[in-house]
Amino acid sequence: MRKIKAAVFASGTGSNFEAMMNDENLACEIVLLVCDKPGATVIDKANQYGVQTFVLNPRDYDTKQEYESNILITVRELEVEWIFLAGYMRLIGPTLLEAYEGRIINIHPSLLPNFPGKDAIGQAIRAACKTTGVTVHYVDEGMDTGPIIAQKKVEIFPNDTEETLKSRIQEIEHALYPEVINMVVGLVELEEV
Ligand code: GAR
Repeated sequence: MRKIKAAVFASGTGSNFEAMMNDENLACEIVLLVCDKPGATVIDKANQYGVQTFVLNPRDYDTKQEYESNILITVRELEVEWIFLAGYMRLIGPTLLEAYEGRIINIHPSLLPNFPGKDAIGQAIRAACKTTGVTVHYVDEGMDTGPIIAQKKVEIFPNDTEETLKSRIQEIEHALYPEVINMVVGLVELEEV
């Protein structure tokens, strides 16, 4: 079966990127890593896996449109069909949203709509929640707001620290994201046959 070409957008450690790369059953070939944080660990990981990287500093651009137009040239050159956000801590603007309508998804470490944005794990602990989780959703112009595709609950134990909870959440993320990617990509490609 033809592998669908995809790009991962990430800003940080890249554990979700790594989980995708290690999943033999992933329906996509990750052909590009886009990173907005020069020096981020995820760039080293992409190099280790031999995945092309495109690292940009948003400060070098006057507008989001200019920044995203530059990304668009590269993703189009590589014939990228889907974009997966994996810890990409930046809103997606109209330039990419219009070019990849319905083909950008994101993973977030909470049960959205609860605790969008940064530090979702810390937010859930400080709010004394007993349960939090992981959400995979389509991306729109908002912060972690697009239509939800899948969610999984994670219990918060009384003695949890941000680190212990994060490690359980990320374990769920690493299994859930590839699974949801395969489902969503497969459905859309089937519709187009
Ligand atoms: C992940 O937990 C992801 O859900 C979160 O960033 C982390 C990135 O980890 N994303 C967000 O908070 C998006 N609002 P990673 O770099 O190890 O994959």
